[in-house]
Amino acid sequence: MNERIRADFPIVNDIIYLDSAATSLTPEPVLEAVLSYYREYNANVGRGVHRVSQLATQKYQNAHRKVAGFIGAKEGEVIFTKNTTEAINMVAYGLKWSKGDEIVTTLLEHHSNFLPWLRLREQGVRVKIVEPNKQGIFELSDFEHAIDDRTRLVAVTQVSNVLGTISPIKEIAAICKEQGNGNGALFLVDGAQAAPHIPINVKELGCDFLAFSGHKMLGPTGTGILWVKDSRVLEPTLFGGGMIESVSKDDYTLAGGYERFEAGTPNIAGGIGLGKAVDYLNEVGMEAMRSYEERLAKRLLDGLQGIEKLRVYGSTNPNERIGVVSFNIEGVHPHDVALMLDETSDIMVRSGHHCCMPLMDYLGLKEGTVRASVYLYNTEAEVDTFLETVEGIAKGA
Ligand code: ALA
Repeated sequence: MNERIRADFPIVNDIIYLDSAATSLTPEPVLEAVLSYYREYNANVGRGVHRVSQLATQKYQNAHRKVAGFIGAKEGEVIFTKNTTEAINMVAYGLKWSKGDEIVTTLLEHHSNFLPWLRLREQGVRVKIVEPNKQGIFELSDFEHAIDDRTRLVAVTQVSNVLGTISPIKEIAAICKEQGNGNGALFLVDGAQAAPHIPINVKELGCDFLAFSGHKMLGPTGTGILWVKDSRVLEPTLFGGGMIESVSKDDYTLAGGYERFEAGTPNIAGGIGLGKAVDYLNEVGMEAMRSYEERLAKRLLDGLQGIEKLRVYGSTNPNERIGVVSFNIEGVHPHDVALMLDETSDIMVRSGHHCCMPLMDYLGLKEGTVRASVYLYNTEAEVDTFLETVEGIAKGA
């Protein structure tokens, strides 16, 4: 990656931002796209015949088309949400559950791909939890045992937001098809940490639902995506304007496509900004970015592993992970490490349990971890400054 890219993120001149797994920085072209909606063609979408509304509608639809293309899907299959959490909840609330249905999920999940399923236990749904090993790596046989003819849904993260490890999604998809009830189990993939960093094609993944966040892939905050393979299995969770074909005193007919699931005025500027973020990522090239980030992740991992009194969590094999790295320094609280990194070298990282308390319990990490995460605007020099600062903190501990 180069200086031209960094010029699109002026904030990198003041800080070293290693917290992209929480939310990414936003490049100038995305900011411009958001502002130009408000400045030049501010109108509601899908509602007006006047020319400004037509233009806004066209741009908003284009954004859906771009996001669909980014994951190898069709336009109507991509629903804009406010984040991954909302997208996953739309599936939890939108499927019809029966007593005795089973859901298989894992211990690696973010609370957003865990709580919606636990809540369904109130409806008599049973939740089974597959455990990875302590490095965050799964045995496929554990999924083969857990998924059976009572399994309605399997919900797995593609990349752990704590350990950075990549899950065997295609293989799990194959197990879902063979096993599960009726025509196999439905498969939901939490792509929040994967979509911004790894080339994704939903057809190759073999899942039924893919949820991810726009704000972690250079888009504005308040943007997320739910891709649904077959919308007939899912009821909308919100009802109101913009999502119907017709309404009478007694009945209504729902619209097709994404409109069915986007009741009310959507986040128009955010959606258009997200479309621009996808243009930006396509221009950089997801394959090129993956290789670049692999290099940064290796440097980060190699450096951290060489520091005394420091422990890195998760697989250290760069092929099994992305550039999200959790670690602890013996005797120093993760929040203190994060504060010292900020105070001494303007380095921003996340610390704590990362919305993954069950995983933290399993790894025996009561205070959580320090987590550094890289993206396309980070440089090797920044990684080196980070490593020197961490070493200094470990020496002083
Ligand atoms: N899910 C985001 C993270 O892992 C917020 O930090």
